[in-house]
Amino acid sequence: MATTLISGGTVVTATGRSAADVLVDGEKIAAVLAPGSTLLGHDLAGSVDTVLDATGKYVIPGGIDAHTHMQMPFGGTEASDTFETGTRAAAWGGTTTIVDFAIQRYGERVMDGLAAWHEKAAGECAIDYGFHQIIGDVNDDSLKAMETLPDEGVSSYKLFMAYPGVFYSDDAQIYKAMRVGAETGLMTMMHAENGPAIDAMVTELLAQGKTDPYYHGVARAWQMEEEATHRAIMLANLTGAPLYVVHVSAKPAVEQLAAARDNGQNVFGETCPQYLYLSLEDQLGAEGFEGAKWVCSTPLRSRHEHHQDHMWQSLRTNDIQMVATDHCPFCMKGQKDMGVGDFSKIPNGIGSVEHRMDLMYQGVVDGKISLERWVEITSTTPARMFGMYGTKGVIAPGADADVVIYDPNGHTSIGLEKTHHMNMDYSAWEGYEIEGHVDTVMSRGRVVVNNNEYLGSKGHGQYVRRATSQYLV
Ligand code: URP
Ligand code: ZN
Ligand code: ZN
Repeated sequence: MATTLISGGTVVTATGRSAADVLVDGEKIAAVLAPGSTLLGHDLAGSVDTVLDATGKYVIPGGIDAHTHMQMPFGGTEASDTFETGTRAAAWGGTTTIVDFAIQRYGERVMDGLAAWHEKAAGECAIDYGFHQIIGDVNDDSLKAMETLPDEGVSSYKLFMAYPGVFYSDDAQIYKAMRVGAETGLMTMMHAENGPAIDAMVTELLAQGKTDPYYHGVARAWQMEEEATHRAIMLANLTGAPLYVVHVSAKPAVEQLAAARDNGQNVFGETCPQYLYLSLEDQLGAEGFEGAKWVCSTPLRSRHEHHQDHMWQSLRTNDIQMVATDHCPFCMKGQKDMGVGDFSKIPNGIGSVEHRMDLMYQGVVDGKISLERWVEITSTTPARMFGMYGTKGVIAPGADADVVIYDPNGHTSIGLEKTHHMNMDYSAWEGYEIEGHVDTVMSRGRVVVNNNEYLGSKGHGQYVRRATSQYLV
């Protein structure tokens, strides 16, 4: 078993920072030691196979992106990152675990959907991966199957209040699924937007000749997110289901979550970098068809309504618990351009899996979150939320050696020609400058990225069998 000493760095966890050396033995962290420690009188640096010098740098647990859609069939096409390309890009950006969504489509069986996603991912991934289960057809058979998801290492499932005719569940279906979710100890993940009302508005806007990408954001109004979030909270309250609302973008939706949490309810919220940095006017409203690059649901919100500021604030105050990407990339050519002349035909999704750690670190530089909170919202909370903590999300003896050495004095210029390993023909983050840099990424003890060189390989990543959310026990 190869041994590595990460020496001279500042180890940062969700609870603090300290100067420490990290000893890695094989795939695991063996010890976190005072700098320069010896072991039974032996100089450690001289006894290990490899020394990684982290002087002046942060040593953090690898990022966990708990919301990705690799090669997801959606919007008449398929997300352009495969498990191979998407997990490689994730590794480049300091993410060492993803939780992707296996899909049961209408008319299909849940376990067939899960098996299909295992087939797509097995032997392809550069980093470790787990699955949530999308239940796209709530019926007696799928409710039964939900009871067996924990045996498969799947402790969470997602329902959609949006996308009628695709993944949509009505209130009766949500009620039934939540009852099973509550009894089975599953985390209910919710896409909270009122799909039927949104679709009615889409029809109206198109009839008025309002076909540009900007109108995607108009149709998916914040009221539709607030209403659905409230409804999901009430159904969760009734059924006792723990609730995790994905891709929260609207201030009033956060306020619904905060009120429910204040009331003692087990509800949680996730936001994404796009809702912290990008806006309806600046991106969706870009010249011509350019705005299609940023069509995603929930949509980017108006910069005049203070959603972004509130989202940063909520991350600080824990009204929002974590940041995932909702990575669902499509190329402009051949995919997004399906919606020229009709915004409703633009495949919904943005690609960010490579940039989440950097974009959130910029929040530290900008004084919006602390260094420890950065680690918490990008790694530790995702691990706890989705039943991986201890193995993932922490630098401690016994944990997987998923470790990132991050250089606060480094620099990252994001752009298609600069740092871009996602399988997309544009970057949603073109021109963003980050005052920090992912120097080294270790996945289960193996260095997969070092000094701008990729050293990983497909098939290294293993399936992560997840336990019950550690927020529920
Ligand atoms: O626009 C998005 N979010 N695409 C992916 C599917 C989803 O709803 O998460
Ligand atoms: Zn969604
Ligand atoms: Zn998603």
